[in-house]
Amino acid sequence: MKTSKYIMAAKTETVQGHNNETLEVVNDIPIDKQIEELIRSHKELSITRSSIVKFNYTGGADPEGLKLLPESSRRRIEEDGLDVSQGYPEIPPRSEIPIFVDEAYAIRAEDAPFVERGKNADPEKKALFGAAKEVIHLTKNVGTEIVGLQLADLTDQQKDELALLVAERVVVFFRDQKLPPTKQHELGKYLGNIEYHAQVPHVTGLPGATVIWNDYLNKKGSKLNYANANLANWDVLRNPGYGNQVWHTDLVHEHQPAGYTHLHLDAVPSTGGDTIWASGYGAYDKLSDEFKKFLDGKKAVFLSAHTYLDRNDPLGGPKRVERIHPLVRTHPATGWKSLFVNRGLTKRIIGVSPVESDLILNYLFDVYEKNADIQVRFKWTPTKQGYGTSAIWDNRISQHRAVWDHEGEEPRHGTRVTSLAEIPFFDPESKSQREALGKPIHKWD
Ligand SMILES: [Fe+2]
Repeated sequence: MKTSKYIMAAKTETVQGHNNETLEVVNDIPIDKQIEELIRSHKELSITRSSIVKFNYTGGADPEGLKLLPESSRRRIEEDGLDVSQGYPEIPPRSEIPIFVDEAYAIRAEDAPFVERGKNADPEKKALFGAAKEVIHLTKNVGTEIVGLQLADLTDQQKDELALLVAERVVVFFRDQKLPPTKQHELGKYLGNIEYHAQVPHVTGLPGATVIWNDYLNKKGSKLNYANANLANWDVLRNPGYGNQVWHTDLVHEHQPAGYTHLHLDAVPSTGGDTIWASGYGAYDKLSDEFKKFLDGKKAVFLSAHTYLDRNDPLGGPKRVERIHPLVRTHPATGWKSLFVNRGLTKRIIGVSPVESDLILNYLFDVYEKNADIQVRFKWTPTKQGYGTSAIWDNRISQHRAVWDHEGEEPRHGTRVTSLAEIPFFDPESKSQREALGKPIHKWD
């Protein structure tokens, strides 16, 4: 008769196993601790609690990923003095990933000081525009491209003006950038509090520089394919947003959610792999005055993308962090009102019935997703060797999604730095964008 040990403990109990073996089981360790021990010590168990990818990995730099890394990306990272010889990207240690939802709630739960750089910037943006070769508005309402400036060389005054420009135009693009990841990280730190995620791969040696790389996720078991790339846009409750294809806003479950996000792609397909953004100012201005009045001041529940276990009900299935924020929020730099919802991660409106909440939210998601005049679609066309393209957008006033039409046939790799901003607020005195700019607002008689 064999004896196997389950977990070592001072007090144990001997029980008969189903194969007639004798098992020593602990009887003085709480069930949540036992589960934690089990999950942390068995790397074949998914610890990321992600429906998309399972990193069955102990953590550290990944030698498998390094083999896939496009040459242009590797050169950019190595020229920055970062050592990828042991592997790329770096997966945070398994021991750091929260297992229980109370641990996830505790991350960045305290108020953190935040300075809105766009708030006191020159509204004419003379330092930024004066140094640029060209400023191109890509659509009437959203998206601007700046030509002839290097993000790595901006002065603080230009950075402040850039923050204001992003806050006004939702997303701003810079092509032909020579931008080392550490410089991208520095700019992110200037714009807010850098977000670090224990579940996602980052640039080796540079936590906070998240790697955006679907080819790699596919290698790790992502189920993203041409047929299912958009399923979540029809029914997010039933279909996961593989590779973030669902319209969403980043990190809305944070106590102080994402403000400016900067994505820099250093490897792009010859065509395809575009990204689309939609304006929250524009979405709000699409609503009637009566409906605006109804929504102003309402709050909603926002969810984390990752799931966790409930310590008091560990077998009760996945739980998400839920945080309450205003449904209409005021941007601190522009003072304009924005519709703060997204199909991926807004769960329900507080104060109305679940049926009413579903109806209203689905309509609001549609307003964002179906109005082409408040959207911009950006082509990340390849630039010269050693250079990449940057998009800086404001999550407080937008949604976005990637377009996975290149099907991973050519590499698409980038680094993303997210700057967390203020505790979201609604100022009843604030105006809509069109109201503030003196543009006509349709009246429904
Ligand atoms: Fe995103």
